[in-house]
This record gives sequence, C-alpha cells and structure tokens, in this order.
Amino acid sequence: MAAFGTVFIPEMTLASYSDNQWSDSEIVPSNKLEFHPGAHVLHYSSTCFEGLKAFKHEDGSVNIFRMEANIARMVQSSQLLSLPAINEALLSKMITDIVEKYADETPAPPGSMYIRPTHLGTEAAIGKAAAPSLSSLLYVLLSPVGDYFAGGAQALRLLLEEDGMRCAPHMGMVKSGGNYASALAPISQAREKYNADQVLFCPGGDVQETGAANFILIDGDEVITKALDSSFLHGITRDSILTIARDLGMKVSERELSVDELLERAAKPGTEAALSGTAAVLTPVGTLIHKDKEFSVGSGQAGPTTERLRQALNAIQWGKAEDKHGWLTKI
Ligand code: COI
Repeated sequence: MAAFGTVFIPEMTLASYSDNQWSDSEIVPSNKLEFHPGAHVLHYSSTCFEGLKAFKHEDGSVNIFRMEANIARMVQSSQLLSLPAINEALLSKMITDIVEKYADETPAPPGSMYIRPTHLGTEAAIGKAAAPSLSSLLYVLLSPVGDYFAGGAQALRLLLEEDGMRCAPHMGMVKSGGNYASALAPISQAREKYNADQVLFCPGGDVQETGAANFILIDGDEVITKALDSSFLHGITRDSILTIARDLGMKVSERELSVDELLERAAKPGTEAALSGTAAVLTPVGTLIHKDKEFSVGSGQAGPTTERLRQALNAIQWGKAEDKHGWLTKI
C-alpha cells in the first residue's frame, strides 16, 4: 500500500478570497495551484490546514466524521494567523461536494478518505512582514488512506524531549504548517539516534504532544491527558476518545502531567499510553526514551484499553455503533 497521503484524487474544490469577499467554489484539477512567487504564504507562512476523514458504511453510504468541529478549528486557526475569515457554509459545501463526487473512491474500512482543507495567504506583497494577506486560496484535497504509522497498530517508541518545544508556546493550538516544520529536525534526530517513531515534546517537564498527534496515558480506568491551553493542538480525535472513555464509565483527567509522573505511572504493569489524531486514530505507545534510557509503558505492547477505545471510535466511524453524539455527516 502507498504511504499515507501520497495518493490524491485528481480533482479538488477551490475558492478564493479577494476584495473582501469569497468566490464560489469550483471543482478543478488537484495537481496544480497558481499564485505569485511573492505570495504572503511563501514568505511569512500564512497558512493553516485541517485533517478529517470520510468513511464508507456497509449500506454503501459515505459519512464524514466531525466535519463541523474541523471547520470550527480551521476558522480559529485562520483567525489566529490573520488570514481572511473562513466562510463556514462555503467550506462545508467544498468538503461535501468533493467527497460526494468521489464517494465511490472512498476505501472500505479499515481504509478511509482523508480530507485536507488548506488555506493560504496569496497576496503578492513581500513588504507585508507585519501585515496580513488580503487575499487567499482555500482548497480541499482528498487522499484515500490506510494506516498512518507504517507498523499499523504496533506499539510506538517515543523520545521525551524536555529541552526543545514543538512550536512557539502560544501557537500550539493553531493547525499551521510551521508548527509541523519546526518539529521535523527533532523527529529526524530521534529516528536516527534512538530509532524512535516520534518525539513527545515535554518542555520543562510538561508532557504536551508529539509532532503529529496528541498523547494520552491510561492508568487502570483513568485516562490522563494535558488540559486544553494554547500550547498544543486541540485534537478532535482526542476529544472523541475522551468522550467515548466517559461514555464507557472511565474517569477522564485533563490536567498537567509531568515527565516524572509519566515515568512513574508507566512502570506499573497495567499502564498504557497512546497517540490520538485523525491520521494516528489511536496508536499504542510501548516505549519511552528519556535521557538515553528506555522505559516500557506497562507491558510495552498494545494494551486492551487502548484497543477497546480505538474499536469504540471505529465502530461509530464505520457505522457499526450508534452515533449518539451526532458526529457523522452523511453525504
Ligand atoms: C492529522 O492527523 O490529520 C494530521 O494533520 C497529522 C498529520 C501528521 C497527518
């Protein structure tokens, strides 16, 4: 199977903002985009994106998971990056139009159609280092996908990074390309030196998130994860998993978690940890690497509670359990 996100549906929806208004959206080829080399995005990184998925159900219908929440987050990211305000109805139409047109290409479970709305500041104005772009492009790409991590549900190895940060502390909640780019060098080094899959950023000992997904710890019937603040991405899969955990009668603690407490709890035999995200879904974490030492999380293998939470999430996404929170949009 091709690597996650490398196969694209040949068309996408595209809309543009200029003269204080949004154009209608149109369906265009997805292999090119035209804008000036002096575009704001290329110089001052005025761009954000989203990641959500559509799932094929047994009755043949295609259903988008948590579309409104993803649109709301894109509205917020655009606002925090001073991009033109997103028109929610327009973006919703752009997503549903392209998913509907290519509904037949949506892979059956465990695959899905990954949806990537992207917003770019396009004003050609390289003097505007301290002023927003007055024009932008918004497009929605589709990519049929399987697992994000090459090892499937195999337990991951995470390097705990206490010195560096994933991004500027007040910008973590923005889903911007720059945040991912700034985590790339630490991730490459961690791969090379420790054969780690990801870096878990823990500045000053505060357990935050990895470069590409949120982190959760499971100790008995308690799920522990960092409380929302501006320093990390407010994951919609994180929110879905916490909601499902509460529905299953588990205790959910959203609070500060220190590296010391994490390592102490990880040493207990039944402890589990996992990464959550649209792409990651809920992938178990088996090993933490800290100050050149390796620590197993519980058994070091995928644990039963992670599996139960992942299956409960998939059951809703795949139409095999009641969608009691109204998370699916049927196309
Ligand atoms: C997602 O989970 O949708 C993301 O945007 C993360 C990315 C690494 C694929």
